[in-house]
Amino acid sequence: MSKPAVRVAVTGAAGQICYSLLFRIANGDLFGKDQPVILQLLDLPQAQKAVNGVVMELEDCAFPLLSGVVVTDDPKTAFRDIDAALLVGARPRSQGMERRDLLSANAEIFKVQGRALNEAAKRDVKVLVVGNPANTNAYITMKSAPDLPAGNITAMLRLDHNRAVSQLAAKAGVGPAEIEKIAVWGNHSPTMYADYRFATAKGQPLPKLINDETWYRETLIPTVGKRGGAIIEARGASSAASAANAAIDHMRDWVQGSNGRWVSMGVPSDGSYGIPEGIIFGVPVICSGGKYERVKGLEIDEFSRKMMDKTLAELIEERDAIADLLK
Ligand code: NAI
Repeated sequence: MSKPAVRVAVTGAAGQICYSLLFRIANGDLFGKDQPVILQLLDLPQAQKAVNGVVMELEDCAFPLLSGVVVTDDPKTAFRDIDAALLVGARPRSQGMERRDLLSANAEIFKVQGRALNEAAKRDVKVLVVGNPANTNAYITMKSAPDLPAGNITAMLRLDHNRAVSQLAAKAGVGPAEIEKIAVWGNHSPTMYADYRFATAKGQPLPKLINDETWYRETLIPTVGKRGGAIIEARGASSAASAANAAIDHMRDWVQGSNGRWVSMGVPSDGSYGIPEGIIFGVPVICSGGKYERVKGLEIDEFSRKMMDKTLAELIEERDAIADLLK
């Protein structure tokens, strides 16, 4: 007998990330190849027709694991009894829009969605915020859903993590799967800090193998930080398939375990590493049994402290900019 289906809400269902993401979830890439899923898709009223088109394509794939699809423009309907939520839909920056206005527009969206999650989702729902500014949107969601475990609201740093792994593997001349113990700290923004100090490749320390600290500091870190912009410049549109892939990686590892490997997740700080409690900050974690555990006790040297303080300052500024909206 097959297992009961899990319910997964995905927002921004008519958008470009979802055009890749939904098909991967329906294919069993997130919950496993023996787990039926029901997709609960949320988008704005004007996007409902486009979502229905995506649903027609999902039907045309005849995915054996897809046991139902709900399409709605109402957050509470979308989040009813869900086991997981991938919050992808967000307000993009329009021409001439100030950063502060972008933060407020998104704060309104994630306040509404946080409340709806609080009311309608399963109490152990796992939430991943992808829509930018992802860390601050996750913070607002967490604050608006006080009855859910705060630690279950997370933000996506996995794309930055995967980007760092790929660049470092190419430099070291090894395969990406051979690289372990990369950490991406902080905000999903160009200020994030991709930290390779503890990384290994084939069991060897990666910094020793690469032996080029200047390249790491002056090329690798900014390349990963500005990769999103480089993709927009080249493709004429923001990263979508790689973002969907990172969202699958994040949720799959959280649900199914990371097999002892470090992965980076934006999670509410527990006060460790000098990050104020509650700030949604990228940290290295290991996932098992449906839970994540921070990697603890890592030494933070002077360079790392400087990098972490810079990305933290940006997150505090974002938090303060939307503080009034949370009252
Ligand atoms: P898109 O513009 O193609 O699609 C966004 C969709 O969200 C649209 O269908 C829109 O109607 C919908 N939407 C807007 N407001 C909504 C609301 N209140 N409720 C439900 N749906 C709503 O954008 P794309 O390319 O799919 O990207 C989505 C988000 O993901 C953007 O904010 C983007 O910046 C972010 N992103 C985050 C990454 C990360 O690493 N954390 C990486 C890449 C993108």
